Amino acid sequence: DEVGREDLGSLHGIPFYKSFIEGWPQVEAFQARHDDLLIATYPKSGTTWLSEILDMIYHDGDVEKCRRDAIFNRVPFLEMKAPKIPSGVDLLEKTPSPRLVKTHLPVQLLPASFQEKDCKVIYMARNPKDVVISYYYFYQMAKIHPDPGTLAEFLETFMNGKVAYGSWYEHVRGWWEKRQEKRLLYLFYEDMKKDPRREVQKILQFLGKEVPEETVARILHHTSFQEMKKNPAANYETMPSSLMDHSLSPFMRKGRFRPVILGQWGGWVPGPTSAQIADVCGGQILPHVLSHLPTPKGISGDWKNHFTVAQNECFDRHYQQHMAGSELCFQTEV
Ligand code: PPS
Repeated sequence: DEVGREDLGSLHGIPFYKSFIEGWPQVEAFQARHDDLLIATYPKSGTTWLSEILDMIYHDGDVEKCRRDAIFNRVPFLEMKAPKIPSGVDLLEKTPSPRLVKTHLPVQLLPASFQEKDCKVIYMARNPKDVVISYYYFYQMAKIHPDPGTLAEFLETFMNGKVAYGSWYEHVRGWWEKRQEKRLLYLFYEDMKKDPRREVQKILQFLGKEVPEETVARILHHTSFQEMKKNPAANYETMPSSLMDHSLSPFMRKGRFRPVILGQWGGWVPGPTSAQIADVCGGQILPHVLSHLPTPKGISGDWKNHFTVAQNECFDRHYQQHMAGSELCFQTEV
């Protein structure tokens, strides 16, 4: 039952998985309901994080209710279609209102009924350098994708808009321009990382919902990276391994790598693992050593561990050309 890697097809000019193209007529005819909330993102931009936050808001911070099922069942993926599992549309039809709906579609491909029913949308965008690195690992572990090749090759593919869902630039700009016509809240992954409380408050305001401070605190705790990484209902580990192979790369990537520390001769070297430190300290981790331990929260800016100087310069030039004239601004520099 292995899902074989194959080339992407094309849907109205956007590179798209062939199985999703087969399911497209059902997606195009999808009947949205007025109280659906659409979570729209370019892939690898914080979709799962935002989905977990919204499910917690919808369940008044009840952690147990939010463990009722895997995130991909609690927040069905509209255009998803794969052999032997229910399609996104099938799942949504069985989901009671008010529904949370996930999509990565570029705005021009969104089924018409979301507009007709005037559904609320929350869009989240992420720094493209982190998106491309996250996408590179995702291509490796999720076998619906073609082979990504080397990172250098994948960077080219990404910049040329030849990855699944097409150009990141067109996606973030396309949705940004819809803010005027739609009931749309446009968020940034980096803002959520920096000040999750403020961003959750923005979401609550957008939804017209008031919740007590203890509930906000529970939402923030439950949706932190550390909590989500170990939560099987949020970390995609229950996805059939024929679709996602977590031994190649976990879905929630960071926190697995060792830190680098300043070495004896002034260069950066891999730091000790926590197990090694515990050994040296007789099981006790001393406070001064603790500051060298991996901090799983450092997941904005992972691109700096992957890009070469030349790749970075090339990406910056490309970014400037493609974002020229847009008010949208991402922190893409060191
Ligand atoms: S997908 O497959 O397109 O729906 O993926 P998506 O959920 O959009 O993006 C996955 C990346 O989001 C990171 N992630 C988080 N970051 C911070 N906090 C929390 N709680 C969180 N949950 C998921 C996840 O680790 C992926 O990023 P990378 O950089 O690959 O780790």
